[in-house]
Amino acid sequence: MPLTARQQEYLKAMGVEVWVPRTAALPVAASEPHAATTSEDMSPNPATSPVNQTTPYSPGPLATRDWDSLISNVTSCTACALHSTRTQTVFGVGNRRAELMLIGEAPGAEEDKQGEPFVGRAGQLLNNMLKAIGMTREQVYIANILKCRPPNNRDPAPEEAAQCVPYLQQQIRLIQPKLILALGRIAAQRLLQCDTPLGKLRGHTHLYSETNTPMVVTYHPAYLLRSPSEKRKAWEDLLYVKTRLQQAGDGADN
Ligand code: URA
Repeated sequence: MPLTARQQEYLKAMGVEVWVPRTAALPVAASEPHAATTSEDMSPNPATSPVNQTTPYSPGPLATRDWDSLISNVTSCTACALHSTRTQTVFGVGNRRAELMLIGEAPGAEEDKQGEPFVGRAGQLLNNMLKAIGMTREQVYIANILKCRPPNNRDPAPEEAAQCVPYLQQQIRLIQPKLILALGRIAAQRLLQCDTPLGKLRGHTHLYSETNTPMVVTYHPAYLLRSPSEKRKAWEDLLYVKTRLQQAGDGADN
């Protein structure tokens, strides 16, 4: 089935010019490599998409209190040296009942200024990547391994991540997403406690063992801005994300 005009528009916004349908079936089992779906599979259908189905949920006073205390602890955190160079902490943003949680590396200059993750150029691309599978930034939850910007956007130091990841774990526990999408090598390796190259981590469903949450890995949007030829693979990862969410919505796993 040919792409709809809307899909073509989203793919163009992502920088994927041509889309070649494949017929390989998607595996369901964890740790099996995933493959691209047919063009039919990628049509975002607002009526049937699991992300648009309302899950019964009532946050209740306890959850609100937990969020408030977590935000307050993060805002006043001085556990590592990054507190002395930050403009502000970047807690995370989005739907506290999200089925999909995106986890990046650390705030950059713009995020440090605005207090929100992925608001720079990489953030624009991330928004378009979400749109390409019929999702919006508001539907998902977006956070980072670190809540504070490392000077000159250097990689997070192990001791910084060690101090900060417990906050992220509390966020994951409160949100209880059906799936985590790790954006880039740093986030993926830190969450999976491994040093496997990103290319090998892609194409599998992993488990974030701290919270027993299924996890998929794709390229960081900033990397995709530098290496646009990899956008096609990111697109395949996103199709896989969509399928996994649908399966989770059907009660097929999770
Ligand atoms: N890169 C990240 O990993 N996170 C952000 O919030 C922005 C850029």
